Amino acid sequence: MSKAENLGGAFTLPGTNLTVNRMGYGAMQLAGPHVFGPPRDRAAAVAVLREAVASGVNHIDTSDFYGPHVTNQIIREALHPYPQELAIVTKVGAKRGPEAEWLPAQSPAELKDGVHDNLRNLGVDALDVVNLRVGGPMEPSEGSIAERFSVLAELQQQGLIRDLGVSNVTAAQVEEARAIAPVVCVQNHYNVAHRNDDGLIGHLAGQGIAYVPYFPLGGFTPLQSSTLSDVAARLGVTPMQVALAWLLHRSPNILLIPGTSSLAHLRENLAAARLALSAEVADQLNSIGSSAAPDAVEVR
Ligand SMILES: NC(=O)c1ccc[n+]([C@@H]2O[C@H](COP(=O)([O-])OP(=O)(O)OC[C@H]3O[C@@H](n4cnc5c(N)ncnc54)[C@H](OP(=O)(O)O)[C@@H]3O)[C@@H](O)[C@H]2O)c1
Repeated sequence: MSKAENLGGAFTLPGTNLTVNRMGYGAMQLAGPHVFGPPRDRAAAVAVLREAVASGVNHIDTSDFYGPHVTNQIIREALHPYPQELAIVTKVGAKRGPEAEWLPAQSPAELKDGVHDNLRNLGVDALDVVNLRVGGPMEPSEGSIAERFSVLAELQQQGLIRDLGVSNVTAAQVEEARAIAPVVCVQNHYNVAHRNDDGLIGHLAGQGIAYVPYFPLGGFTPLQSSTLSDVAARLGVTPMQVALAWLLHRSPNILLIPGTSSLAHLRENLAAARLALSAEVADQLNSIGSSAAPDAVEVR
């Protein structure tokens, strides 16, 4: 099996020459507790990144507000000079307060500063993909994003960003952005128990646009579901592996970026891409996030 086959197959971001394996890696967990300050074990963080890339991961999600700066600096230490096939996808639109607060940073000047922070800390002349991150802490909120997205489109014109995405957005905001510049990916909160975007995923698939769920394992409050546990026990794998395999099964335009600071979890997550789900098992898992099901449990 090739590395791409091992990692759920490859997906080409629309209108680009960026082809990534569907199982990627989310770097947020590499900073310290509460995604703030340095990690307890920096060498372990470096080892996780190096093993991910050695295993064929060529899509890493990050932001300069993780740490802040820390996660990008660890990525640079671990992987620079970057392999040509590696896509590092970052995001702007937030900053951190002194008490680890997550604060919006969405003025034109703050968005530009965010891009320059990423360039500097990743050590690159241009960023592969930048997502404009808007909305509330966990969910989108309606409202125009045109002015903010235009700031990034301008930086793209200047050659500082190759491709653009949007994060924590509504379907209307995706379309608003697409009228300004091509959108190659959408990154929203979605997992087997949290399925607000079922309709959006299908729409994006029709346009060839990648959908990248954040919190694929439930994020700060890991997924818990008796259905997930039952299926995992039957298949002889872990519930987290089933949750990831379900996402890969859900739609061909879904790219995964599960986050971990642990080599053991990294290996477990990558192996989930080789787990094939039967239609019957997928149906059973579908019931977890269906609004009709009493077992819809994403504990927060
Ligand atoms: N656009 C946005 O607004 C936004 C928001 C949040 C996150 N993100 C991105 O999305 C990525 C993924 O989200 P996330 O990291 O927050 O959440 P996640 O992938 O849903 O879950 C990560 C949590 O699950 C644990 N975990 C990972 N693999 C595991 C396994 N096999 N078994 C048991 N526990 C496991 C991790 O702990 P260990 O470290 O102990 O493994 C961590 O606590 C982030 O890394 C970030 O790049 C984007």
